[in-house]
Amino acid sequence: MESDLELLFLWVNTSDSLDAKILTSRAIPWNDHVEWFESCLASTKCMIWIAEKDDFALGQVRIELHQERDLLIDIYIDISQRTQGIGSLILEKAEEESKSRWPGYSFVAKIKHNNIASLRFFQKQGYKFDSETADYMVLAKRL
Ligand SMILES: CC(C)(COP(=O)(O)OP(=O)(O)OC[C@H]1O[C@@H](n2cnc3c(N)ncnc32)[C@H](O)[C@@H]1OP(=O)(O)O)[C@@H](O)C(=O)NCCC(=O)NCCS
Repeated sequence: MESDLELLFLWVNTSDSLDAKILTSRAIPWNDHVEWFESCLASTKCMIWIAEKDDFALGQVRIELHQERDLLIDIYIDISQRTQGIGSLILEKAEEESKSRWPGYSFVAKIKHNNIASLRFFQKQGYKFDSETADYMVLAKRL
């Protein structure tokens, strides 16, 4: 089985993951990924959860502290595991842990206008429209 570092590298460079990204649309080189992963692990502002079942990796959620009181969410469920409630489950668990670590902070998702699955997903999780740019919408769960 791949290490977490390798697994996240595989996932981030899938075409649907890159399509959903706001800042990056090109494949991420290995060295940049290693540097990013190490800085995330060393930071008190970044947490990553990887969901597994029977040694099979299902998906990941990352929550990063951005701005003053916003927790920015990045979520990716392996394509073979979607629409079975796994994204909802892993996001709820990550929110629970984040609430005790950063009490009173708001959860925020930036969703490209064409990413309907993600929009429906966050709406179902109780996220509400907050604002938008030409490229993406911001949905938030304000506590
Ligand atoms: C968005 C994503 C995380 C959803 O994960 P998932 O495990 O499939 O989601 P769930 O099974 O928990 O779905 C919960 C709800 O989300 C919505 N949803 C999920 N997939 C959907 C789809 N393809 N089309 C429309 N609605 C969808 C539905 O409302 C669903 O509830 P329902 O099953 O009662 O209809 C997953 O599609 C994914 O990893 N996409 C690629 C990466 C991405 O776009 N990330 C978000 C960046 S902001």
